[in-house]
Amino acid sequence: MKRVIVDHYGGPEVLTVVDCDAPQPRAGEVCVRMLAAGVSFTDAQLRAGTYLGVPRAPFTPGYELVGVVEEVGAGCARLRVGDHIASLTVWGAYAERVCVREEDAVEIPRDVDPARVTALVLTYMTAYQLLHRLAKVEHGESVLVHGAAGRVGTAVLELGALHGCRLYGTASARDRAAVERHGAVAIDYRRENFLARVRELTGDGVNVVLDGIGGALSLRSFRALTSHGRLVVYGHYSTLDAGRRSWRAWAEWYGATAAVALRGALTHRTVMAYRIQRLHKGRQWVPMSFGRAPLVGGGPRNAAWFREDFASLLALLRTNEIDPVVAERMPLSDARRAHELLPSAASRGKLVLVP
Ligand SMILES: NC(=O)c1ccc[n+]([C@@H]2O[C@H](COP(=O)([O-])OP(=O)(O)OC[C@H]3O[C@@H](n4cnc5c(N)ncnc54)[C@H](OP(=O)(O)O)[C@@H]3O)[C@@H](O)[C@H]2O)c1
Repeated sequence: MKRVIVDHYGGPEVLTVVDCDAPQPRAGEVCVRMLAAGVSFTDAQLRAGTYLGVPRAPFTPGYELVGVVEEVGAGCARLRVGDHIASLTVWGAYAERVCVREEDAVEIPRDVDPARVTALVLTYMTAYQLLHRLAKVEHGESVLVHGAAGRVGTAVLELGALHGCRLYGTASARDRAAVERHGAVAIDYRRENFLARVRELTGDGVNVVLDGIGGALSLRSFRALTSHGRLVVYGHYSTLDAGRRSWRAWAEWYGATAAVALRGALTHRTVMAYRIQRLHKGRQWVPMSFGRAPLVGGGPRNAAWFREDFASLLALLRTNEIDPVVAERMPLSDARRAHELLPSAASRGKLVLVP
């Protein structure tokens, strides 16, 4: 079978396709024929070696998998050959055949488009949990999301609008219409000072800021909150410079995150961090939560949240209340091109690898 590997950390050029033996399921695993593997900015961070807990190269990237079960390992009781499943693999999905733990696989109906479902696994799940599990947004609250025309940003706008939030989103001027389509106020992050603009628009700031960019932006995001607002930091977008690791940006990211965490602890504002991967391992998922909110944690409950939230997203997909857009379906052998396109195609939707 074919799989994509990263044999050393770097830009898209480090992705190569190799032939190898198909894996066999171990006890508790099912082996799945890949139908669709999502390509995400988080995959780019794994490829570049900037993701926290990145495996040693060589490894196969691929955070989001949809496939059909072809073989069932010993001890599996729930899944059968022929079942369609989705899984948050974190890495490994860019391959024709992938083994996953049965407990990490969520069944999906056969009549849904696998490419659209990949968007639910990481992108929409992140947006959903940021809004409903961490920030716990209420109807009518104001939410500012950075990178609002990107994949997670668009999902936040869609889900936030469904929940009756007042939405603000930073994006490039060319993506203004994509942000406004969801009823959000677009703020041009390249030309406008978003902090001044938010204050001008709201008077006292926003209830929630969702920050997937990080670094110096987090400091101003904190200042954009109302006196009891919540900031969720969930990404290191700023730590990649032209697809490669930037040590300067890393240092800035940690410095800024520590600074907002400290300020959160000293005020009525709350600062939280979100990592979806914590669900995968079934461990506590929030390394920090400062301010008045209680710590969000507890492994088993979090693994259950993933299943519950996935079911909610699938229901919204089936009733067309959310519309994950697939920008392009590309063969597995085009993984490098998909990574090259990733930054410039953010507002076009999901890039998906297919067999
Ligand atoms: N914690 C988690 O579990 C988790 C889960 C999923 C994603 N993430 C992280 O979330 C971040 C976003 O992911 P994504 O998939 O949405 O990425 P994406 O689709 O590539 O979108 C990123 C967007 O951010 C915009 N942007 C770049 N710099 C900006 C700035 N300074 N201010 C405002 N917007 C800016 C880009 O716009 P331009 O193209 O116009 O610059 C682009 O539209 C990444 O860091 C990703 O790793 C974290």
